[in-house]
Amino acid sequence: MTDEVSEEKIYPLGYEPQESPQTSDPNVRNQLLDFILKSGPAEIIDTDLFAVMAKRRSTRKFSDKPVETTKIDKIIAAADTAPTAGNYQGFEIFYIKNPEKKKLLVDACNKQPYVDAPVVLVFCKNPSRVKFDFPEYVLKKFAIQDATLAAGYSQLAAQALGLSSIWIGMFDEQKVMDVIGTDLVPSSVLCIGYPEQTKFPKPRRNLKDLVHVVW
Ligand SMILES: Cc1cc2nc3c(=O)[nH]c(=O)nc-3n(C[C@H](O)[C@H](O)[C@H](O)COP(=O)(O)O)c2cc1C
Repeated sequence: MTDEVSEEKIYPLGYEPQESPQTSDPNVRNQLLDFILKSGPAEIIDTDLFAVMAKRRSTRKFSDKPVETTKIDKIIAAADTAPTAGNYQGFEIFYIKNPEKKKLLVDACNKQPYVDAPVVLVFCKNPSRVKFDFPEYVLKKFAIQDATLAAGYSQLAAQALGLSSIWIGMFDEQKVMDVIGTDLVPSSVLCIGYPEQTKFPKPRRNLKDLVHVVW
């Protein structure tokens, strides 16, 4: 632990949380979430994790209502709490703000029109961050798990905030990379917004088919 507080700006150009610390404090694990939790009244709609999980349902029709920056902050902060292999955080989040690029992503995602959503986050693998002395294929495996878990955390956070989402796994990797301007391979595109309609969650199979007891 150190008491150092860096003067370096901690947010990327073009994304500044609604309210936020301006400088980096290495003593705080997740500065954005720390700040959110300390500041003001919580506007989280559902704080019961299991209720959030039970109610989550993918949405492919979003209303035009814009998503508040405070909610986007929470969705991003949630991703940043996910476990990662060795805590190396082998993933990156691309927050797509450019409307033209969202349209290009529709094409890159097998022409799925709902990709042009109010909030679009592309989760990419970054195996170069994973500093284990393991073969490359293991680092890649860790990075895809890191990116996937982080996106899953964001998806649940969105639900907790009264939003809905659709996870996009069907895309042309190279096309997505070209649109967002990276050489990192995407693992998922998470599209988020207010649902036009709230739907019942989809059924799942019986536990007896899902769980395999190993004695
Ligand atoms: C790995 C993965 C890939 C997916 N890819 C797509 C996709 O490309 N397009 C789409 O409309 N939905 C996609 N989905 C969403 C699923 O269709 C959806 O989660 C599933 O039908 C279950 O519905 P629920 O999320 O409402 O429980 C994907 C989900 C996952 C986990």
